[in-house]
Amino acid sequence: MDNEFDRYAKSYDQDLVAAMPPGMEESEYFARYKIEHLARRCAGKTITRILDFGCGAGRSLIFLAEKFPHSQIFGFDPSTESVDLAKGRCGAAHVTSDWQQVAEEKYDLILAANVFHHIPRVEMPTRLSQCANVLQPGAAMGIFEHNPLNPLTRYVFERCIFDRDAEMIPRNVLMMQAAGAGLRVRKKEYTLFFPKPLAALRPIEHWLGWLPLGAQYYLELTNK
Ligand SMILES: C[S@@+](CC[C@H](N)C(=O)[O-])C[C@H]1O[C@@H](n2cnc3c(N)ncnc32)[C@H](O)[C@@H]1O
Repeated sequence: MDNEFDRYAKSYDQDLVAAMPPGMEESEYFARYKIEHLARRCAGKTITRILDFGCGAGRSLIFLAEKFPHSQIFGFDPSTESVDLAKGRCGAAHVTSDWQQVAEEKYDLILAANVFHHIPRVEMPTRLSQCANVLQPGAAMGIFEHNPLNPLTRYVFERCIFDRDAEMIPRNVLMMQAAGAGLRVRKKEYTLFFPKPLAALRPIEHWLGWLPLGAQYYLELTNK
């Protein structure tokens, strides 16, 4: 069956960069940032299996493999074109568009990077419950989503070709949806405050998590 993201799989990175204002274009930084954030959150924990839920063309998989060298990395995406590209990009990861395969395992960490705003609101409880069901007890599901309060995020979102049919999710809405799926919020913070021209300020970002101006927000959910 055709999937919306089959169309964008090959040009995903270029489409994203094309939506950014001149001088602010960067793509790899965002993917790497999220994985480094997760690695800090998981420091000292045994992470045997990681699931990248909505892995797309595999932008995060390579960084997951790099930052979690002792973990098995799994990717799931309903777009088969994206899955094919992801497999080519990260041979070490097990990538599939078949949820049954994913559901054969339990995961110590689930990442969902900019996935939920592509899922219709009515479908969201089902998708969150699916993730909750494959999460090890007490393990973390880390969700990154666009912050609708950030003007630059809105600028990029409105211009990004693959976001045409998407709807940004306010943080409190996602938190309510998560609670409905039996997931508890363990950490919430805003992230990605400084665009490329202000990159020198990035080291102070970790003090700003409370400030609702980050380009994205991070929600860490758990099932206990
Ligand atoms: C904006 S892309 C993000 C891809 C990747 N996570 C990244 O950061 O580059 C959104 C992805 O969500 C996937 N997606 C859409 N509906 C989904 C669903 N119900 N379950 C899992 N992934 C879904 C799309 O196929 C697409 O690859």
